[in-house]
Amino acid sequence: MKKFAIAVDGPAGAGKSTISKLVAQKLGIEYIDTGAMYRAITLKLINNNVNFGDFDNVKKIVENTKVELVNGRVLLDGDDVSEEIRMPYVSTRVSEVAAMPIVRERLVYLQRLMAENTSVIMDGRDIGTNVLKNAEIKIFLTASVEERANRRYIEMQNKGVDITFEEICEDIRKRDTIDSTREVNPLRQAEDAILVDTTGKSIEEVVDEIISIIKKGVNI
Ligand code: DC
Repeated sequence: MKKFAIAVDGPAGAGKSTISKLVAQKLGIEYIDTGAMYRAITLKLINNNVNFGDFDNVKKIVENTKVELVNGRVLLDGDDVSEEIRMPYVSTRVSEVAAMPIVRERLVYLQRLMAENTSVIMDGRDIGTNVLKNAEIKIFLTASVEERANRRYIEMQNKGVDITFEEICEDIRKRDTIDSTREVNPLRQAEDAILVDTTGKSIEEVVDEIISIIKKGVNI
């Protein structure tokens, strides 16, 4: 089987990671969650009490931080932070960090390295437009704000996190705006990406739809 890459982009809560993880399992390829990498850097900056406006300090931290994705877990300087990076205190600040060119430069470099020698499905905001511009398949996954907020709300409730539906809606709207209006690599659908709207569809339906798109585009 020839090496290939699948880029999945879309707004927060569209189902990118759930769907991409399942597609990766079905096809036996690597899944790379780039949002988790931005979250891990954000967590480190918060834990180190770094002022996000302090460019020199942010740069120093970013250059000296190890972010790894191992067996579905996220390791920050060797520590498993998979749960912590999903907490609201990280979610509400990650867009600010992801808008910093110095952070993007470093993480994009690492993401390209990860896809160099193996077939991957990589999800994020700028994968089809920037990180893997030559990906064989590009998917733009979306859903209505209400549906995306509802999914996050259920996820947070299951984890016992105290947050209201309205607060999540507000956070999602705010992140959509920051992610799609920032100067460096904003969220947008690549010209050659296929739009998949997940509103009202089950996870299985979306996974099947994407696998059939991949099968049409790549010889697997
Ligand atoms: O997909 P997510 O919610 O875990 O992403 C967290 C944040 O990181 C989100 O605000 C957008 C940003 N991000 C990005 O700018 N580029 C990526 N490739 C992935 C995520």
